[in-house]
Amino acid sequence: MTGPTGAALARTTVTRAEQRAFTAQGYVGLPGLWDERLADALAAEARARRPHAKVPARGPRTPLADGRRPGPGIPAAGGPLLARVHLALVGAARELTGRLLVPTFAAYGYYEGDDRVLLHVDTEQCDLTLLTAAYGAVTPLHLHPDLVGSTMERLGRLEDDPSWDRAGGIPVSYPRTGVTALNGHVVPHHRPRDPAPGSSAVAALCYRALF
Ligand SMILES: [Fe+2]
Repeated sequence: MTGPTGAALARTTVTRAEQRAFTAQGYVGLPGLWDERLADALAAEARARRPHAKVPARGPRTPLADGRRPGPGIPAAGGPLLARVHLALVGAARELTGRLLVPTFAAYGYYEGDDRVLLHVDTEQCDLTLLTAAYGAVTPLHLHPDLVGSTMERLGRLEDDPSWDRAGGIPVSYPRTGVTALNGHVVPHHRPRDPAPGSSAVAALCYRALF
């Protein structure tokens, strides 16, 4: 794939080892999908699209107890380069999962001042979620395979529980020249409050299985 800057994807396939790791763990890092030029172009697009970002009407909403608000939501915006990367990775997404996946949406999510994310599973639009750092220092996502099968209500109760260990789970970082692939509709995940918050953007690319 060649983008508007001439940057190209370095690979659009996955290895058997990556397939096996994804099947066993529910996530796997796919490094080296593109080069620094494309990473820079994605960062530039993310910054340029920030003024157009809106909090999506649909998305995971972790229910919290009365009187506690989950926050205003994370503003998100798409972009033509991100859309091209989304389409270019559909073959890799299908190889990784062995499922007939189709692209649903791809967007930059903007975190300003705090990149905390409440414990949740992704919507049915995301049978596979690919995550990449667009810009800024993005702190790791914490995955909770031990909570697979939990309802959103149970995840909300954990968020409400001050004794719940927010440092727990498997910390997974976001690559800049590739993605972390996550079975995000199944494996609950959260991001603890960043002790040194700044501005950052994460790109999420979602694919849904036709069957
Ligand atoms: Fe998520």
